[in-house]
Amino acid sequence: MKIKFLVYNLIFISIFSCVDNSVPVYLNKNYSYNIRVKDLISRMTTEDKVAQMCQYVSLNQLSNSSDSLKTIDNGDSKAFYKGLFRSDIEKLVTDGKIGSFLHVFSYEEANYLQKLALKSRLKIPLMFGVDAIHGNGMVKGCTVYPSPIAISSTFSDSLSFEVGKQTSKEIRATGSHWAFAPNIDVARDFRWGRVGETFGEDPKLVSNIGVNMIKGLQYDNQIIACAKHFIAGSEPINGLNFSPMDISERKLREVYLPPFKNAVNAGVKSVMIAHNEINGIPCHMNKYLITNILKDEFNFSGLIVSDWMDVERLYSLHHVAKDFKEACLLSINAGLDINMHGPNFYEEVLALIKEDKISINRIDNSVKKILLAKFKLGLFENRFIDTSKISNIIFSQKHRKTSLEVARKSIVLLKNNNNILPLKSSSNMKILVTGPNANNHTILGDWTKPQPTKNVTTIYEGIKAIGKSKGFEVDFYNSNSNISAISEKDISRTSDFSKNYDFVILVVGDNSLRYSKNTKTAGENNGRANLSLMGKQLKLIKSVNNTAKNMIVIYVNSKPIAEPWIHQNVDAIIEAWEPGSLGGKAVAEVIFGDVNPSGKLPITFPRSVGQLQMHYNFKPSQYYRKYIDEEVDPLYCFGHGLSYSTFEYSNLKLDLKEDNNPYITVSFLLKNKSNFDGEEVVQLYLRDSYSSVTRPVKELINYKRVFLKANESKIVKFKIKFEELAFYDLNMSYVLERGDFIFMVGGSSNSIDQISDTINLNMAYSF
Ligand code: BGC
Repeated sequence: MKIKFLVYNLIFISIFSCVDNSVPVYLNKNYSYNIRVKDLISRMTTEDKVAQMCQYVSLNQLSNSSDSLKTIDNGDSKAFYKGLFRSDIEKLVTDGKIGSFLHVFSYEEANYLQKLALKSRLKIPLMFGVDAIHGNGMVKGCTVYPSPIAISSTFSDSLSFEVGKQTSKEIRATGSHWAFAPNIDVARDFRWGRVGETFGEDPKLVSNIGVNMIKGLQYDNQIIACAKHFIAGSEPINGLNFSPMDISERKLREVYLPPFKNAVNAGVKSVMIAHNEINGIPCHMNKYLITNILKDEFNFSGLIVSDWMDVERLYSLHHVAKDFKEACLLSINAGLDINMHGPNFYEEVLALIKEDKISINRIDNSVKKILLAKFKLGLFENRFIDTSKISNIIFSQKHRKTSLEVARKSIVLLKNNNNILPLKSSSNMKILVTGPNANNHTILGDWTKPQPTKNVTTIYEGIKAIGKSKGFEVDFYNSNSNISAISEKDISRTSDFSKNYDFVILVVGDNSLRYSKNTKTAGENNGRANLSLMGKQLKLIKSVNNTAKNMIVIYVNSKPIAEPWIHQNVDAIIEAWEPGSLGGKAVAEVIFGDVNPSGKLPITFPRSVGQLQMHYNFKPSQYYRKYIDEEVDPLYCFGHGLSYSTFEYSNLKLDLKEDNNPYITVSFLLKNKSNFDGEEVVQLYLRDSYSSVTRPVKELINYKRVFLKANESKIVKFKIKFEELAFYDLNMSYVLERGDFIFMVGGSSNSIDQISDTINLNMAYSF
């Protein structure tokens, strides 16, 4: 492999030295990137330029013509290009007619395509994008970190950064250069299949976890990140992916834009446009959003890429363009740089340029950015990968350790009656692990391809390994891993079996593995009309609950589960999320007390789908009236998560410093009143008690992980700049109005878990 790598590079060097002794400026790395881009652009024809804006799916992802269009559209990242075969696409590359690919999952193909690109006139390297949403899990053998909703559940910015950094190494090592991640949509409708791909419901948390992941991904310029999806597809009117959004300018600015603004400020190098329309205008043709807000107002100068086939959909789905040509015109004029994906874009854009409908300056603007990204990634010097090095980089010990650490800190203990958990060491005690997610790879979540069995610790495997070492006997019973197919027979057999055990650990939830087409219950295009457990899972739980001496329920899933019955009737409930490659070990460590749980919910768990929309930062009038058939409080609130320790909050103090850079110091005493060492996610919330427009009853301002030994106390401090308290007033100016501000600190967003104090500000500020 090493030899092959050297040969590729030799071919590269010799091609240029044979043709011309003086290497063109754009290939001389002693020049600045801008000079190299200028030189290269000057050598490009209009055709060469438009080609850079064209993206295709990899050769291995080309579908058979026998795959139905529906299968392809539902997207397991496969595509079928009518009339174009593998050899045609190879020729397009050697002719310099393709700028980038998505989903080049095979290392060999990565080098092969780059080798073909070297045969093109200008030898511009290709850029490869991949949906590395929680690790580079679409590539076999890579580390799968817990799902984004779990990463957010750690409330740890530094862990998110580390996941990003390690993922970037695995991406570049396996041949790609561009992560279509992170997803910084703020989740507001939990029926949406993609909730687990987000960092939850709070704009601040989504911003922080997102920004840190971006910084990690782009840490040493090995790859570029992509903030997506611009914008607001996470509040579809019926919960379904693609569905329209009607949204006010205020809501856009209060909820959906902040993560993108923060991502741009953090230097994100690309942004993906969202599938949906907003107020009647599909995002892909929305000049106000893309050019006025993103580029002009936020000063975003990176790449803007379409989502999968969404330029086409301007005419085929939204019916706002009469044909694909008009769709290309609308999206390029709105500010698009790269079309994901496929043929015809090239021809149509060239025709539009000829007809003077698109100016060459407009095209140059996109192409300069694309080339600059390729130069900065070092692709002109270093386009091939050394396949012999891959195995040392992917799934390394360091990366596995981080994946495990994130899982440990993300697991949320939802309920623990009578301190049934952690299970105490014992001999002669028998544990049964069962349920559809007990012993399979659903713990890996969406945006993963099948991973080697040896790389994954299932929940049963984790419990068995640790349980055995503590003297328990641990068995597994297969109650049917196909969630929707659990039958009455499966239920009665499982509950019969359960009788013989001291503890039954029942693992239920969802399956969002995109490759398990017929059995998945969540994920990208799997919206649901209900938030309850799919199929007969609740029945299974009820039945086992009748026969088992003690039962613990574990959720493996990635969005809120609305099952009040389970909360009322089961003693211990653990939200494990989709905890990644070593998830089973992390779950077992929590069960046996080797790890004290510290994850907190980054999203509200409603009691029923009818309570939607439900999030903690609602406006004051939301629950003035009550439902006649449902509670108005959630099943579990945002920020909820129990520990084996008991934390006590006291001595809250607010100190105001009003000078040129005014700020407030919030300090309080946190005490661990237990015999367990533990880590608490302390959360600071704000309420503006009176304002010129309505503000949420609570807004998360800051948070911190604080470790306390058994019976230890610490003073915790937050320094809050005034700008962090600001909001959009009547005129949409970002201001802080004078008046009383209530600060609340605690272990969740629920007032019961908080202490509070008020401070008066008698000066107004604008930012
Ligand atoms: C998703 C994007 C993803 C793209 C490529 C689309 O269906 O919305 O998030 O990056 O596919 O896989």
